[in-house]
Amino acid sequence: MWHLSLSMESDTRETLAAQLRNALRRQIDQGALRPGTRVPSSRQLAKDLGVSRTVVVEAYEQLCAEGYLTSQRGSGTSVADAAPAEVGSALTTDETPTPEVWDLRAGGTDVSAFPRQDWIRSVSAVVRAAGPRELGYAPPSGLPPVRRTLAGYLGRVRGVRVRPEHLMVTSGFAQGLALLCRVLRDQGHDAVGVEDPGHPGEWAFIADAGLRPVAVPVDRHGIRVDDLAATGVRAVLTTPASQFPTGAALSPQRREHLLAWARAVDGYVVEDDFDAAFVAPAQRMPALQSLAPDRVVYAGSASKVLAPALRLGWLAAPPGLAASIERVRAGWDIGCSGLDQLAFARLVDSGAFDRHLRRLRAEFQRRRQAVHQHVARHLPGASPLSGDGGLQTYLVLPRWCAEESMVEAARRRSVLVRGGRFHALRHDDRPPALVLGYAGVRGSDLGRGLAGLATAYRDLTP
Ligand SMILES: Cc1ncc(COP(=O)(O)O)c(C=O)c1O
Repeated sequence: MWHLSLSMESDTRETLAAQLRNALRRQIDQGALRPGTRVPSSRQLAKDLGVSRTVVVEAYEQLCAEGYLTSQRGSGTSVADAAPAEVGSALTTDETPTPEVWDLRAGGTDVSAFPRQDWIRSVSAVVRAAGPRELGYAPPSGLPPVRRTLAGYLGRVRGVRVRPEHLMVTSGFAQGLALLCRVLRDQGHDAVGVEDPGHPGEWAFIADAGLRPVAVPVDRHGIRVDDLAATGVRAVLTTPASQFPTGAALSPQRREHLLAWARAVDGYVVEDDFDAAFVAPAQRMPALQSLAPDRVVYAGSASKVLAPALRLGWLAAPPGLAASIERVRAGWDIGCSGLDQLAFARLVDSGAFDRHLRRLRAEFQRRRQAVHQHVARHLPGASPLSGDGGLQTYLVLPRWCAEESMVEAARRRSVLVRGGRFHALRHDDRPPALVLGYAGVRGSDLGRGLAGLATAYRDLTP
């Protein structure tokens, strides 16, 4: 059953068993055969190599005696875990208890809530039904039935106006952004406006594509369009549903203003809608794209609503960009896994995705309230910047509380958290802040993390 690719140096002075033994030993020493790797049965390897079985048995026995292989009745022969000296040191490391750490850095999601059974059912149905078309190459922009489902879903929940054939399935939001930057550069752009504070990872993507990320300030109403206009850029990346990381919703007046700016400069607004599913009802508005599909590039992701591991996202681009994006994409990766796309579409069509989101939304809403209550009670003087968006709280600290000292004090209490400056593109004298992510830590762990934070705050309070 197990196949082994083995090159034996034929040396007529050595027996076949010795040649085999040397070849195996060499592969183990060089790391090609990793600890724990199953090797074929003696009968199978003898057949594969065209030698008698006793040759293989003799080689295996010798390597077992030397500690290179281990053999157990019922589970066959495997490469031994490690040389005896290494086993000793590995044990000592394993026995050292690792301290518990509460990770409140923004960017995570609750992967423990991943709807495993529903996903297994979807995958199983898709694989059972898959014919030559489903198992072959998918069109680079995505399978047509999947794009139909997605276009219907995005229209239903976000008001997105897109024809299925103009919607692209991407490998996460990240790929959509990279594609877009490449096309913007080809069209003569040399800079892209970005929200400040924002996501340093996205600025790196933009810079890697040869464009300059230009900081645009945000306030309680989202991105400041007057400041954007003053930069001279003609494209901007925004998170209108819930500004990352402040959580502010772009106000209706700003939405109008932003779209008027895009028309005036003949430019584009890139709408990163990655966490819109978790915006509280009072703050929820249709996607910006629904107001101007000719000026807004709409991009979403399955990373927060299901799991980052899926690497699934989507992109709806205005006609002026869509064809170029498709052309570039076809030269990059020939599309995402068709089976995963189909499983995702099935999850949506069966209603399981909506059910899952309803549960997750309620859970995140509870956590958000818990964070706000905890802050009000235990961190006097600190105040959340915005109300009901996002998967993190942007907590403005009083001036006396140096941000770096707070991050360090929290770390000493085993709480990982980032300061506002981590998310800042410009270095100015903005008030100290913490960004508390609550999506990746569950109930009691969130409570313990927050308690650690309160103790750290008390440690610093003058
Ligand atoms: C601001 C922002 N946009 C989008 C995403 C989703 O990216 P992706 O779909 O590549 O995982 C993230 C993930 O953390 C994010 O923080």
